[in-house]
Amino acid sequence: MIAETSTDDILYGTPEQIAVVRRARALYRLVGHNPSFTFQGRTVSYVGCPGESRAQIADRVIDLCRLQGYASAQFTNRSHRDSYTQAYSDARLAPVVWEQYWGRGSALTSSIAFLEAFTPPAGLQLCAVTADTPDQTIHDICQMSVDAGVLPPSGSVMRGQGPKGVMLFVKTGDGQVVASGGGYMSYHPDSTRHDEAFWGMLATHADWRGQRLACWVGAKTIQILANQFGARGFSSGVKADNPSSQAMCARLGIYQSDYLYVGATDPILMGTTAITR
Ligand SMILES: CC(C)(COP(=O)(O)OP(=O)(O)OC[C@H]1O[C@@H](n2cnc3c(N)ncnc32)[C@H](O)[C@@H]1OP(=O)(O)O)[C@@H](O)C(=O)NCCC(=O)NCCS
Repeated sequence: MIAETSTDDILYGTPEQIAVVRRARALYRLVGHNPSFTFQGRTVSYVGCPGESRAQIADRVIDLCRLQGYASAQFTNRSHRDSYTQAYSDARLAPVVWEQYWGRGSALTSSIAFLEAFTPPAGLQLCAVTADTPDQTIHDICQMSVDAGVLPPSGSVMRGQGPKGVMLFVKTGDGQVVASGGGYMSYHPDSTRHDEAFWGMLATHADWRGQRLACWVGAKTIQILANQFGARGFSSGVKADNPSSQAMCARLGIYQSDYLYVGATDPILMGTTAITR
């Protein structure tokens, strides 16, 4: 893992992951006005527009993947999985599938209930990244996150220079970052998914797991996305073999849905590096 620090950004990950996020940031500046695209602070993906065929959507994902190194089709009906993965394989890309965990009303009610009942461990503080958050704190969030296998959004996005949203972190009394996560209004205001947020990117330091810190960060993120940005739906990509993430989502009213993120990586740009956990 490396860190790339420039005057305007902080990026963490493998060299391949950093290159993907850098390309995605540039691509978002070019296509962010188009409601067919979605950006959650790490990669630009495709949500399409009404009437588009599966073949057309797959072609757009393939284009995005070849440009960035990774892209996915979102809100993809489970029964269409194989037609996408076949199209990606035919294009010599490596398919990667996430369950799209999703909650609307249930996420809001469960998060409020969680926050009302939860007593944080003594000495811990839940904070939001702002434009004034010091570089060192951004570095600490990114390092903790990549150590947990989760690709963080770029520092500029965390500081508010991207889609609307929030990045939260938990710190100890002596300033150690022990958990983080966030969410962004990743769909365009004119998209049919305009009130949906991409939520998650949750990571807890290995020494601090099992104390409901991820639920704390996740629930507060949902509350902020709803109250400040009008989010009514919350979804996250979860691998079928990640029981802790599945349990955490369920606790917050976000469940396995009929949808998948059907994505692909480009071996020429990314080798065998996964985009995130
Ligand atoms: C997933 C992760 C963020 C959870 O962090 P955490 O702070 O330990 O989670 P919490 O203490 O808030 O627990 C949340 C739920 O998961 C459950 N859980 C925790 N670890 C578990 C495990 N290994 N297997 C099954 N359930 C587990 C908890 O019991 C709790 O459910 P409950 O409220 O129904 O009892 C943490 O394990 C992590 O950083 N993993 C690596 C990164 C990752 O996979 N992130 C998610 C990307 S989609």
